[in-house]
Parts: sequence; C-alpha cells; structure tokens
Amino acid sequence: MAAVIIDGRAVAKAYKEGIAARTQEMIARGIVPHLAVVLVGENPASQVYVRNKENACIKAGIRSTVIRLAQDCTQETLEETVSALNKDASVHGILVQLPLPKHLDEARVLRLIDPDKDVDGFHAMNSGRLMNGQPGFVPCTPLGVMELLKAYDISIAGKHAVVIGRSNIVGKPMAMLLLAANATVTICHSRTQNLAELTRQADILVAAVGRAGFVTADMVKPGATVIDVGINRVDGQIVGDVDYAAVSEKAGYITPVPGGVGQMTIALLLANTLDAAERCGC
Ligand code: GUN
Repeated sequence: MAAVIIDGRAVAKAYKEGIAARTQEMIARGIVPHLAVVLVGENPASQVYVRNKENACIKAGIRSTVIRLAQDCTQETLEETVSALNKDASVHGILVQLPLPKHLDEARVLRLIDPDKDVDGFHAMNSGRLMNGQPGFVPCTPLGVMELLKAYDISIAGKHAVVIGRSNIVGKPMAMLLLAANATVTICHSRTQNLAELTRQADILVAAVGRAGFVTADMVKPGATVIDVGINRVDGQIVGDVDYAAVSEKAGYITPVPGGVGQMTIALLLANTLDAAERCGC
C-alpha cells in the first residue's frame, strides 16, 4: 500500500501562523524578536537560504538583519562582527550561514556565538545541554523532524529509530531528540557494516546522508516511517536521499523532497528566535 505523505508544507504553514501570533503577542509586551544572520561571500545556495530566512522573519513579524561580508573577509572581521552582535541587546538570535569560505575557521566562529543567542544550536554548550537533557537551543532541522512526527501522531516511545548520518547539524542531534522521546536509537554512517540489515529494523528511519537515492526499498521495513532530510541537486532537480518512488510503495509514512523536512527548518529557526527573545525578556 502507498505510504501516507507527510506534508511538510502544510505543517510548516500552520506552525508559522502560530509563530506570527506569538510574535504579535511578544511585541505587544514590548519585546521585538530580532534575528541577525551573517552571510560571508557569494555562495549561491547560501544566498537563497538567507533570503528565505529573511522573508520568513518579515512575514512572521520578526525583525531581521542580514550582515553581508565579502568573500575575502578576514577571520578578525568576522569575529568582530559576531562579537558586536553578542553585545547588541536588541539582537536575540545570531546565525552565521554555513559553509564559510575555506580560509575561515568555522569552529572558532561558532564557539564565539553567545550560547544564549545561538538559535542554530551549533555551539558546544548547546550540544552539551541537549545531551544532558537540559534546556538549550537545538538545531532546527532535527527539531523540525520531531514536529512532523508529532503532527502525524507517529509514536516514538519504545520504537526502533535508525538515523543514517552522524553530522553535528542533523544526525547526532536527531538521535538525541529521538532518544529523549524514548526511542531505541541506532546511528549509522559511512563505515557502518551491514547497513541494510540495520535499516530494515527501523520503525522510524531518518536519512541524512547527502546522497541522492541512497535509501532503496530493500532497506525499508514495510510500514516504517521514512524521513528524508537530504537535499541533493540532480540534473537541475532537488531530490532527497531516499528513492522516493519505490520506498513510498513500501513505507507507512514518508516525507517528500521538496515539500517535507526542508519546509520545517526555517519554521523552527523562527521558534528558536522567539525562545531566545523570551528568555532574554528584553
Ligand atoms: N547551511 C545550511 N543549513 C544551515 C543551517 O541550518 N544553519 C546555518 N548556519 N548554515 C546552514
């Protein structure tokens, strides 16, 4: 039987409406949520992502500032920019768009962002908080996946969740969130042996590999929930990590690409920005 298609567009739309209402309520209390995005260089994909973030902020009533730095900007200039945003009491959320040009030290820049303004959730302080079950900022994409599971009433507790990918941005925080929701979690990666044997055990399978069509139907248990985090460009088309045509005939639930997880990432960035403003109370 064909899988239920998880409609990320619809869930994100409803979620953003909630964000807009919450923003208005905060503004009425004298708090104007403010996200600052730092974009270095001319990477075309980054420019699109940043424009989408800016538009989503404006639509929700959140103040947005984009600071554009030249491709050849120095580490010092970038760090001065982040430090100034840390000190600026009107800024609640700071996001440095990745990837940075090769000559810049990404890890140093991420470490410099005030953890209480780190709406990307990439600072080690926030990964540590997630690991320890303490409140903090969590990366937006895995948070968005959890919201999709919730929107479709997909139960997690006691289920076997298999995450393919171990990045700091998706795989690891995704595994932590599923674990916190009482799933039994397996993390697979490029060195995993007998990968298909493990993925076939998954009630919830999350693919965050970065390779088009990586998850094939033989890797999926009938009725499983398949979440595709991949965004790959193939012949000018955006496709995920999952062989959608074949897997959607076998899974119970599936996210399409586009129109699935990607839609949720920005929605959760807005939510993190409101949380930062709320915690700051200024
Ligand atoms: N580049 C691609 N995705 C992201 C993201 O979620 N945050 C940042 N900072 N950069 C990105």
